[in-house]
Amino acid sequence: MRIDAITIFPDYFAPLQLSLLGKAQDGGLLSVNVHDLRGQTSDTHHTVDDAPYGGGAGMVMLADVWGRAIDEVIDDGAILIVLTPAGRRFNQEMAEELSQASHVIFACGRYEGIDDRVRIHYSQPEYQKRNIQVREVSIGDYVLGGGEVAAMVMIEAITRLIPGVLGNPLSLAEESHNEEGYLEYPNFTRPKEWRGLEVPPILLSGNHAAIASWRASQAQERKDTNRN
Ligand code: ADE
Repeated sequence: MRIDAITIFPDYFAPLQLSLLGKAQDGGLLSVNVHDLRGQTSDTHHTVDDAPYGGGAGMVMLADVWGRAIDEVIDDGAILIVLTPAGRRFNQEMAEELSQASHVIFACGRYEGIDDRVRIHYSQPEYQKRNIQVREVSIGDYVLGGGEVAAMVMIEAITRLIPGVLGNPLSLAEESHNEEGYLEYPNFTRPKEWRGLEVPPILLSGNHAAIASWRASQAQERKDTNRN
């Protein structure tokens, strides 16, 4: 998978070099390319925003600068993700779907967002014919300072689903937030007793059927507590 992230703060993406994602890039499973939006400006102040037409607070990012930045990376079959709190809510199902894509571009807006003509432009039939899709995505119902952290969240959730990225592929099988809305059961490891708290004895019983059914009921209890 190829990932391009366009931002005025490329340094936000430095942690993607760490851990399994860094290894996946070294191993050629993944390439992450971060682009400085200001590199597409032509004025001495490297302006990326202006006041909104119609008035109102804040600044809007310039369509022209964004258009140049996106043109540089977009190709047939790419999915352009525009990060905005007004977008469709990101979840595990969307992560699964995006993990099948060959090229994902993250447009990380700041301030009051990107001039909406950018989204409209890349949604036009000439791009659709090239199998290019545009999606506005939010990672949750709260407002961040910009799309960078949202893009990082999405990149981590998406790329760990690419075969070969996780050290142990079995970790994917049982985990939280599969499509049925199941949450993972609680886990314990050594020591058997910590600060007076014992590991649930059933987990030491060796009875796999009983363990599976205990875990299922614990997962349900978690769901009832945390998701209602
Ligand atoms: N930009 C600001 N807040 C955001 C959010 N919740 N999701 C995605 N992008 C954002």
